[in-house]
Amino acid sequence: MAKKILLIGRGHLGSFLKGRLDVPDALHWTREMADLDAAALKKLAPEVVINTAGKTDLRWCEDNAVECWRCNVAAPVGVFRAFRAVLPASAVYVHLSSGCVWDGPYGPDGKPFGPDSPPLPACFYSWTKAACDALLLRETEGRKISILRPRQVYSPLPSPRNTLGKLGSYPKLIDTPNSMTSGETIARTIEKVLSPEGEKALGRILCVYDRGVTTPFEVGAIMAEAGLREPPQKFTKQELDGFHKPKRVDTVLSDPFFESLVDPPKVQAELRRVVAAYAKAVKK
Ligand SMILES: NC(=O)c1ccc[n+]([C@@H]2O[C@H](COP(=O)([O-])OP(=O)(O)OC[C@H]3O[C@@H](n4cnc5c(N)ncnc54)[C@H](OP(=O)(O)O)[C@@H]3O)[C@@H](O)[C@H]2O)c1
Repeated sequence: MAKKILLIGRGHLGSFLKGRLDVPDALHWTREMADLDAAALKKLAPEVVINTAGKTDLRWCEDNAVECWRCNVAAPVGVFRAFRAVLPASAVYVHLSSGCVWDGPYGPDGKPFGPDSPPLPACFYSWTKAACDALLLRETEGRKISILRPRQVYSPLPSPRNTLGKLGSYPKLIDTPNSMTSGETIARTIEKVLSPEGEKALGRILCVYDRGVTTPFEVGAIMAEAGLREPPQKFTKQELDGFHKPKRVDTVLSDPFFESLVDPPKVQAELRRVVAAYAKAVKK
């Protein structure tokens, strides 16, 4: 039976999941998150709350740290406290965190980052994402919560926050390994978390990504093949770090539990599928 999902967030991922998970307008919370208090939640009575809202522009977060903290930490923790207070024990809270809490591409041991790797935030935005996860995990009180850390989210939806939109617009791209996550992979992860076999995914962090690694340069080349941009030129990581402030991170994720639960697609195949759909959407 389909669950009654309350989806928070009007951005790229919120818009993608609304269509993909078939969330009705009445259960798509596009207003201020802090207004989703206990009374509002009780009235809406969802079985699942998915929170995609937050401030995501790295420069903006650096320059507006207090408001960024409110939106990325205080408000989502407030929604979870309201959830805990008024919804039944069977209700599930899915929080969107980020793989950018790590700055690699690999960890100090030379391996990809996993759910238990200590965060290595490189900018204020990443600090807020790591802090929110830490607070939520301290406050679960046995409630059903799942924290998802995707990386460089992409989908067929034209949006300034879609990684394809970003990588389509830069003439030069670095060729450094990174994980990427299709919106479809996030949707499938949520469906798995809500299924009986997803019980083990509760109360923990899941790294969520398409299998294997790619690079921004490779994505640019795939987009060029689809007629979405000129073929990219290469940029060294040092050149990029020299002018991109705050620093843009490179992160490769690995989570065997996630891979066994979701069986994610190979990133190159998924990129080609989604880039083709994205090209149709932007050329409409
Ligand atoms: N995009 C990625 O590649 C990526 C990667 C890893 C993780 N994530 C995480 O995934 C989630 C969704 O990302 P996204 O790409 O959909 O970002 P997005 O397009 O920027 O969407 C986030 C939305 O949240 C809204 N928001 C911010 N503060 C709010 C508040 N206090 N109350 C209500 N709404 C608020 C924003 O509205 P305004 O624009 O008006 O502020 C924006 O519409 C975020 O938590 C992000 O950290 C994203």
